[in-house]
Amino acid sequence: MPAIAFGTGSKWKGQDVTDYVSQAIEAGFSHIDSAQWYKTEDSVGRAIHESGLGRSDLYLTTKWSGLTTIPEAIQDSLKNLGVKQVDLYLIHNPMVITDLEVNWRDFEKIKEDGLSRSIGVSNFDLKLMQDLLKIAKVKPAVNQILFHPYNYAQMKELVEFSAEHGIVTEAYSSLQPITKYPGGPVDKPVEAAAKRLGASTTQVLLSWVKSKGVAIVTTSSNKGRLQEYLAVAELPPLTDEEISAIDEAGAKGPSTSIMTSEKANVRKWFKIASITLQLIFQLCFLVRFAYRWMYVW
Ligand SMILES: NC(=O)c1ccc[n+]([C@@H]2O[C@H](COP(=O)([O-])OP(=O)(O)OC[C@H]3O[C@@H](n4cnc5c(N)ncnc54)[C@H](OP(=O)(O)O)[C@@H]3O)[C@@H](O)[C@H]2O)c1
Repeated sequence: MPAIAFGTGSKWKGQDVTDYVSQAIEAGFSHIDSAQWYKTEDSVGRAIHESGLGRSDLYLTTKWSGLTTIPEAIQDSLKNLGVKQVDLYLIHNPMVITDLEVNWRDFEKIKEDGLSRSIGVSNFDLKLMQDLLKIAKVKPAVNQILFHPYNYAQMKELVEFSAEHGIVTEAYSSLQPITKYPGGPVDKPVEAAAKRLGASTTQVLLSWVKSKGVAIVTTSSNKGRLQEYLAVAELPPLTDEEISAIDEAGAKGPSTSIMTSEKANVRKWFKIASITLQLIFQLCFLVRFAYRWMYVW
């Protein structure tokens, strides 16, 4: 798997990303990340087609986001992307799981049928990953997670556990110290490393992710920035002292909220309860209406 991907989620959701994906491919990205939820698969497909590149020149990741059944979702994704096979197919989020074992068997079937070369997960915490490994005949190849210096302490055990089991961790939203938490404790050690290397703070953050043995999915609308991301591969590595200084500053906060399997379960039950309540209200309304109608007649 190419260690850096161009993402078509977050700020791109629901948009036509054809030009941006084309720009990323021109800049040198060979790994494109999408999802059923993003509604960008069709424009990713257009950009791939327009690039004229062979299927083996690009690595395609997409995800089942729970909008349809898994067998329907993968067929829709392949159609949208205009390909016969994706390289990596992920369960987008624990919240979309109906039954872990049943859902994973569907994923294993997708690999067996050659619709995806690899299968994996996203936003799985340690407990869910351990549960999955107990029932998996095919181990997940990847876990794509929120990963940056401010949640490193929370994610460390999961990343190490995954590495021990040969599962690649792929980081999304690693630039949050710049985009979401500017002025936080991490800025100082990141700026110091950037100065030593003659690099940008963005590059230092991506280098820090690399130092943890973690792959990256990031994005940009800006060609210069895309080149900056790719140039991280050529940078000398951060020193152990620089990595420790970023880790320590990251542990000082701001604290970030991550989705654990417990939280996902609570959310799921909350959603089921709210749908049930809505149905009860509608039923009450119908009964009342029917009663009045009968009374009138
Ligand atoms: N599996 C999941 O649940 C999940 C969740 C979220 C995201 N993702 C994937 O990860 C991809 C990336 O997510 P993300 O956008 O949150 O990641 P990110 O890599 O943290 O942020 C990318 C954004 O940072 C901005 N940026 C970069 N350097 C900057 C700087 N120096 N100053 C200000 N802004 C800067 C870019 O803006 P410009 O465009 O202006 O350059 C870009 O929009 C998504 O597209 C999606 O594919 C997956």
